[in-house]
Amino acid sequence: MERIQLPATDLSLSRLIYGMWRLADDKDTSTSHVQAKIEACLKNGITSFDQADIYGNYECEKLLGKTLNESPSLRDQMEIITKCDIALLSDKRPEHRVKHYDTSAAHIRSSVEASLTHMAIDRIDVLLLHRPDPLMDHHETGAVLDALIKEGKVRTVGVSNFMRSDWELLQSAMSAKLVTNQIELSVARFEAFLDGQVAFLQKEGIPPMAWSPLGGGQLMNPSHPKEQALFDALSELGAQHGCTADHIAIAWLLKHPSRILPVMGTNNLDRIEKLHLACSVELSRQDWFALLELAKGEEVP
Ligand SMILES: NC(=O)c1ccc[n+]([C@@H]2O[C@H](COP(=O)([O-])OP(=O)(O)OC[C@H]3O[C@@H](n4cnc5c(N)ncnc54)[C@H](OP(=O)(O)O)[C@@H]3O)[C@@H](O)[C@H]2O)c1
Repeated sequence: MERIQLPATDLSLSRLIYGMWRLADDKDTSTSHVQAKIEACLKNGITSFDQADIYGNYECEKLLGKTLNESPSLRDQMEIITKCDIALLSDKRPEHRVKHYDTSAAHIRSSVEASLTHMAIDRIDVLLLHRPDPLMDHHETGAVLDALIKEGKVRTVGVSNFMRSDWELLQSAMSAKLVTNQIELSVARFEAFLDGQVAFLQKEGIPPMAWSPLGGGQLMNPSHPKEQALFDALSELGAQHGCTADHIAIAWLLKHPSRILPVMGTNNLDRIEKLHLACSVELSRQDWFALLELAKGEEVP
């Protein structure tokens, strides 16, 4: 599988990333099953894994950590991405009165320490700020992120769900270069292609990560005629390319020259085994626009 070099670093990620948001929703959360999913990814060249402190009500990082404790040789074959700054209302965090964001140095530092402990690792490969915090003091946040890199606790830093202005604010107060912006992007949610978000990253040479690349499953489970027409077109192209609708939806993202890294969310082992098929599909320009037209419900102007 193709690898994507993160700018100004010695770190590369696999073109497809495996997302662990739904790890705790799987009916089987045993370490042997988590291990089987990781191994299915590795076997197919997917070496990059996406976590967040809050996933599974603060449990998903621990599920990964238990698995790595039992099979320590996995760690060196993986790049681990995790996120911080969202503070959930949760029985695990009784001190939270309201859902909020926290980009204070103290919170980021304690969150990183907790993620390292929970995942049983000594360095995070990519740390992302999960959401832009309207109260972010960019000097304070930038300084702690640079310090965590210097201390070796974090290898590289990026962001998620940031608009260009949030990105520029934080970057202006950091010496390390931000390496990615993980944004919602799929045939179902294509707006970032049209509103300048992807164009900005492309200009900066920053590979975007696409979360919910199958629209969180919505693309594969159409519930009204417009979604059905899009699903039918994806399936038809799948048949032409010897794969299925989900692979075409991913190939649609891979075609973009900004070098998008889709973050896949399936818990299904068979689907994980076949994700790599998306990387062999070359969609034509007209097929790309045909899918955009079906998603928009109208032709481009
Ligand atoms: N940064 C952020 O703010 C943010 C937000 C959300 C997510 N994320 C990241 O993005 C990752 C992926 O998000 P996601 O899970 O929403 O991604 P997704 O791949 O768009 O959706 C996954 C869902 O689609 C279903 N699905 C996949 N293939 C299917 C198929 N062929 N037919 C029917 N259903 C299918 C899966 O069910 P099965 O398990 O049954 O296959 C699962 O419920 C997360 O794990 C997380 O790492 C980040």
